[in-house]
Amino acid sequence: MAAQTVSVLFIAIGVMDIVLGIADHCSLNTLQVPGNDMDFTKEATNDEFAIVGKFKGLHCCAKGYRSIEWYKDGKMYPWDLDRSRLIIYPESANQTISTSNIRQEDEGNYTCVLRNDTVMHSHTINLRVFDKLPDDLKMTYVPQSRQAYVGEHLRLFCEAFAGRLETPDPSSAAIWHRKLENGTLTEVPKRVFQERVSREEGQTFGTYLVFPGVRPEDFGVYTCRIYKPGAFKYLDVTLSEKMKVITYIDPNPFPLKEMVLSAVMLGLVIITVLIVYRRFALRCQVYLKDRFSAPEDNDGKQHDVLVAYSPKDSELASGVLVSTLEKRGYVCQKKELSLDVSNWNAELAGHIESCRRIITVVSPATVNDSWISSNLYQALKQLQTLGETKLICVALKELPTSPTETKNSLGETLASVAHSMNIITWHRNNDYNFWLKLYKDLPPKRAGPAPAPPQRPRLTSERSFDSLVVVT
Ligand SMILES: *[C@@H]1O[C@H](CO)[C@@H](O)[C@H](O)[C@H]1NC(C)=O
Ligand SMILES: *[C@@H]1O[C@H](CO)[C@@H](O)[C@H](O)[C@H]1NC(C)=O
Ligand SMILES: *[C@@H]1O[C@H](CO)[C@@H](O)[C@H](O)[C@H]1NC(C)=O
Ligand SMILES: *[C@@H]1O[C@H](CO)[C@@H](O)[C@H](O)[C@H]1NC(C)=O
Repeated sequence: MAAQTVSVLFIAIGVMDIVLGIADHCSLNTLQVPGNDMDFTKEATNDEFAIVGKFKGLHCCAKGYRSIEWYKDGKMYPWDLDRSRLIIYPESANQTISTSNIRQEDEGNYTCVLRNDTVMHSHTINLRVFDKLPDDLKMTYVPQSRQAYVGEHLRLFCEAFAGRLETPDPSSAAIWHRKLENGTLTEVPKRVFQERVSREEGQTFGTYLVFPGVRPEDFGVYTCRIYKPGAFKYLDVTLSEKMKVITYIDPNPFPLKEMVLSAVMLGLVIITVLIVYRRFALRCQVYLKDRFSAPEDNDGKQHDVLVAYSPKDSELASGVLVSTLEKRGYVCQKKELSLDVSNWNAELAGHIESCRRIITVVSPATVNDSWISSNLYQALKQLQTLGETKLICVALKELPTSPTETKNSLGETLASVAHSMNIITWHRNNDYNFWLKLYKDLPPKRAGPAPAPPQRPRLTSERSFDSLVVVT
């Protein structure tokens, strides 16, 4: 009587134990998955095993779901008892289906379908029911190789069905080892702990290998050694480092952007320099010449400049040219030339000795109002024969250019002669540059005032001035 009571009590405790295990399964040893999104919270098994007549439970542990539906071989729960005796265990929020007395007919594929408002996850468990204890171990969860970041919390899991062990047997367990490169199994570090779990009265057991924070030295191979009397399995997994997904930065990028930028900057600098140069180069040259060139004062000559012109140009020559040069401190001499170009050489020759420069004004008037290449060629040739003396031609009009001009017997053209001479064209619109060009070729004037833009000279007759400066 007493023995019966005791055994009933033991059975009751056993059932309690199973029921508690069932109820707790999805709340113990869960993964700490951050956030509230729908997800599985435990390593979900793909294969489950049972012995006829024993208790069996299947689990889909999850969170964040709105509903769980169960299917057996495609047939949705509730199914009739002929199909399966497993029933939903509502206390575990439908995550578990179970029966306390499983039959062969309960074998099959059980699928749980989790839904939230937007997505659906499903997981299928293949259940096999044996009528007698299998000799070997049946893996319910085969450990998977993993990648992890350094510092990450991570666990490996390994679980097998061994069947009902008649006596509690210390020779049944799952133990993790570190596998060295030469194949030797060693103990895992103390920091990495092993957590043994079992369910259904120890028929299924396994071990978690928990890394509270993965360290670089933890990467490597781990072996789950799982055994029961007469059977064992070794399962290897590799824990490797997951590389942070960083945007790939080319260590030696082709610096296209920098090069384009540099090119643009260089271009801007060149353009700026050119602009500044165009604007200030002449000024600089005149300044430098006046400041640093050797003075020519001690050469025994009386005049700096001889200004030669035809009678019709006298107003411009003496009223503008000579007066401006004199204001700048140049000692000038004036010379009216005859209208016969061929006499010029003789007319000017006497002054070469006493003047440092000769400025000849060449205008339509000098060539009898016939501004054509041949006449100008004659005039320039005359001036050229003056020889060594520094000669400056001030042309009051652009020299005519003719692309068809043929070379004469000397192999020369007006352009070639003009090119070999110093000809400064008078541009009424841009006369400051004209003066700079002129000053540049005159002797340096050290003490003289800085070459300021000359005042527009007063002329006795504005009209006659304009008529002289022929606008083409
Ligand atoms: C449903 O779950 C997925 C992840 O499983 C999540 O991305 C999504 O936001 C969830 N939807 C709702 C409405 O909670
Ligand atoms: C659990 O399943 C029952 C029966 O299928 C269903 O009525 C109930 O809504 C389910 N509960 C959840 C939380 O899915
Ligand atoms: C269960 O699924 C597996 C794999 O999909 C299949 O091979 C097996 O036949 C299925 N079992 C049943 C009873 O439908
Ligand atoms: C494997 O390597 C470890 C240490 O590197 C050493 O202690 C052990 O003896 C080696 N085992 C074999 C079989 O070579």
